[in-house]
Amino acid sequence: MGSRASAPCPCAERVRDAASGADTCAIVVAGGSGERFGDPRGKQFVDLCGLPLMSWSIMALDRAPSVGAIVVVCAPDRVAQVEKDVLARLSLAKPVTLAPSGATRQDSVRSGLDATPRELPLVAVHDAARPLVEVEQIEAACAAVRADDSLAGAILATRSVDTLKLVEGTTIVATPDRSFYWAAQTPQVFRRRVLLAAHKAAAHEEYQGTDDASLVERMGGRVCVVESTRDNIKITLPEDLALAEATLERRLLG
Ligand code: CTP
Ligand code: MG
Repeated sequence: MGSRASAPCPCAERVRDAASGADTCAIVVAGGSGERFGDPRGKQFVDLCGLPLMSWSIMALDRAPSVGAIVVVCAPDRVAQVEKDVLARLSLAKPVTLAPSGATRQDSVRSGLDATPRELPLVAVHDAARPLVEVEQIEAACAAVRADDSLAGAILATRSVDTLKLVEGTTIVATPDRSFYWAAQTPQVFRRRVLLAAHKAAAHEEYQGTDDASLVERMGGRVCVVESTRDNIKITLPEDLALAEATLERRLLG
């Protein structure tokens, strides 16, 4: 499985060769069991326009000029499947290493983070279950962090379109001002050392966050949003797949 942060990264030389100027290691978390999706193959492996679903985000990250290396996090018993059915079918320009997933998404990100090369100062954490991410969006998130030294990170997000209700039981207790609310997506890009410190603190304090930004925020790190599109959905329920298929077909055709 992937290298640990304390060991020299075996792919460091290739990182420099493959993408001079690239400063970001992508971490694709693909170690979930897809309970809500419900397919025994796991949602990251179901067919989407002729390829296993997780292939699409790996290809987008591979094409992003900021990305110099990719770490794919998957269950140890899925390594052969990822190598044969996903990686071997793509001709990727960037070096890919695999890291073992953990019991929670947060554990999986930490595992991936430990396998990232120190040479790349930024990391972009991405859900394998978001196949529709585009190169421009990845670049925008990386550029936001790069452009502002005071930022710990930047995440893709969309403005809330629905009116939000704060509800207790079934009773509405407040209607907050929608303009303050954004829906978080991935990639979430951070300075590698900051995200590593935030994960170590969270593990030490047994804190489980719902995304990586929340771990950095609670340490006082400033994280900004980069406006994304609603296309970049996370495949969660079976009906999400048809929507992804339609969007991808539209893109591929035209
Ligand atoms: N993930 C992971 N390791 C885990 C849990 C989740 O790498 N222990 C990954 C998933 O593979 C997915 C991403 O995190 O790409 C977002 O998680 P989610 O959409 O919740 O996927 P699952 O946990 O697989 O789905 P569910 O919650 O329905 O079981
Ligand atoms: Mg989950």
